[in-house]
Amino acid sequence: MDHHPRIASARAAKITILPTAEEASQFVAERLVTLVQANPTCRLGLATGQTPRRVYAKLVAAAQDEKVSFAKVETINLDEYCGLEQSHPDSFAAYMHRELFSGASFDTSKINLIDGAAKDETAEAARYAALVRSRPVDLQLLGIGTNGHIGFNEPGSPVTSRVRIVELSPETLVVNQQTLLQLDRVPTRAITMGIADIIDAREIVVLATGAAKAEAIRKSLSGQLGEACPASLLQIHGNVHWVLDKGAAQLQ
Ligand code: GLP
Repeated sequence: MDHHPRIASARAAKITILPTAEEASQFVAERLVTLVQANPTCRLGLATGQTPRRVYAKLVAAAQDEKVSFAKVETINLDEYCGLEQSHPDSFAAYMHRELFSGASFDTSKINLIDGAAKDETAEAARYAALVRSRPVDLQLLGIGTNGHIGFNEPGSPVTSRVRIVELSPETLVVNQQTLLQLDRVPTRAITMGIADIIDAREIVVLATGAAKAEAIRKSLSGQLGEACPASLLQIHGNVHWVLDKGAAQLQ
């Protein structure tokens, strides 16, 4: 059931600012480990990008040190490029296996990923939409784009949006170009969870590091809510924790 059909009121955000990206990542990793220790069968919503890589490395280390077991954890990923096989190194599926799932011994039967190479993209988006609707996550980990996107919900994404096929913004194409491993160009389309899907999470943790994110963070936390900065729509959720390093927080 949609419990946020319209933007009613902004709520005070919980914000933690730490000196470095390393400390911010450690803080987020500890939150995730604590949650999984308390609830070993929890469901995690996971993001890709450069930002969570440190967090995932810490989760792998914690699993290998047997501080926590991810064997019973279910995961749901936010988004995926269209047109890429899951085995392609630039797919978000391959990223997740490389950065987290393999090293931290996740059960592959409990991992939910989008098939970006599905012949029928519309059917794949519908499959994932139904899956996401039936499985709200306990904790959604998010990064943020320099234009304020979350997942691939680019500026203009409605607060009521659900899983769908989207066109990536010119800014995202330029920024993500630097992250490619094999492709020459960033795919122009993606399947992403919507804003409403993200807001269905019980708890949301946004990790942002580096000065390049400062303006997006300023807009997200300014108190103004609007589709022009999708992350600002998170203010309607009552349990969002923003974890920032000094660079990302410099315009606060
Ligand atoms: C992407 C992803 C987002 C991510 C954002 C920021 O392309 N779809 O989920 O949060 O960009 O990425 P980064 O952490 O690399 O700055």
